[in-house]
Amino acid sequence: MTHPDKYLLGRGEAEETRLKRQIANLAPDSDAQFDNIGIKPGERLVDLGCGPGGVLHLLGKRVGSTGSVLGIERSQHFVEQARRFVADHGLSQVEVREGDAYDTRLPRASFDGAHMRLVLVNVPEPERIVREMVSLVRPGGWVASFEADFLALICDPPLPAWTSLLDAYKAYSAAQGIDLFVGRRIHRLFRDAGVVEIRVDAVVHVYPPGHERRTILRDFINNVRDKLIDGGFVERGDLDRDLAALENHLASPETLVTSNVFFRLSGRVPR
Ligand SMILES: C[S@@+](CC[C@H](N)C(=O)[O-])C[C@H]1O[C@@H](n2cnc3c(N)ncnc32)[C@H](O)[C@@H]1O
Repeated sequence: MTHPDKYLLGRGEAEETRLKRQIANLAPDSDAQFDNIGIKPGERLVDLGCGPGGVLHLLGKRVGSTGSVLGIERSQHFVEQARRFVADHGLSQVEVREGDAYDTRLPRASFDGAHMRLVLVNVPEPERIVREMVSLVRPGGWVASFEADFLALICDPPLPAWTSLLDAYKAYSAAQGIDLFVGRRIHRLFRDAGVVEIRVDAVVHVYPPGHERRTILRDFINNVRDKLIDGGFVERGDLDRDLAALENHLASPETLVTSNVFFRLSGRVPR
């Protein structure tokens, strides 16, 4: 059954640009995770919620010309962008299809490995996607998840506008049934879905002035700006005032800004 699309971040032009930058920004963290999994040439892989490119190139180079990578993405526009991305990388072993991660309609147990990055933190009922993902992998195959937890998204010195904006974002997400702290739970979600040999680590970054992800809170707020106002989560005047204060704070070289915690999990489907 197709799930109503309650995806948090929207798919506007600014978000598309942010996701395209994210491909390079997060590549080292994903590459390190893939190194640990030991992905082999010839494997058949699936990546759920691949966005306009995500990690398709990283997986594609690992499986080589004898393997295959299938990217599944809900947005037709992102599917087109991802197809262009893989064509630009000359990856004929990577295919991208429009589909719903809650119900991919792909054959069960038909992949050697499955991966998903930063989908669960933006959707309700993450356990349903995890179950679907695990069901796609053959006995003995691997699963990998890279997921955010808003625990560490802080600035110092503290700024009241940062706190109010983040509180509004958290309240809006919670009202949609979306857990911004799902990162810490993925080990449970995958274990409950039957995955064994689970390994988890975590990374946090400091985003210095000029870093493309330093403005991530502002970018998220702008993505849902109208929904925050229309839903009564914040007054328009307060939002504009807080965003201006945030902008100033981020521009100061004396402000420290951190990332979310990114939890990286890998595990196996039992034989
Ligand atoms: C934050 S983006 C991450 C994109 C990519 N995985 C990356 O890490 O760069 C989340 C992506 O999941 C997609 N998405 C959301 N809900 C989905 C669903 N039910 N099925 C498939 N894709 C979905 C969104 O359209 C978006 O492209």
